Amino acid sequence: MTCDGDMLCGINRAKSDEMSDMEKKHTPVITAPDNVKKGEPFDVTVEVGKLLAHPNEYGHFIQWIELYSGDTFLTRVELTPVLADPRITVTVALNHSHPLRVLEHCNLHGTWEGTKEITVS
Ligand SMILES: [Fe+2]
Repeated sequence: MTCDGDMLCGINRAKSDEMSDMEKKHTPVITAPDNVKKGEPFDVTVEVGKLLAHPNEYGHFIQWIELYSGDTFLTRVELTPVLADPRITVTVALNHSHPLRVLEHCNLHGTWEGTKEITVS
């Protein structure tokens, strides 16, 4: 299946390091250590709109944020407009060196992905 530029179809990803304003507003930024010890808890912070502010209004907001280790689901946070900023911190403990992946969903502009490499040893 191809979405042919339809933002509401599939998962949107920044196409290069030179992001468009739309990509900057929606690409989740992950802050976490580069290296962690197997099974030891650590914090992961995810921010949407860190690169360029995203609206947080009743008609346009980030509805949810999900965190994965590779394809393994870790957590999901539902957000309400205006009263909750799209910035979350969760504590996780990993056993494998899969990239951290975040999916976030904007009510107008679809689902977007951000990733961060992390080494578990
Ligand atoms: Fe949006």
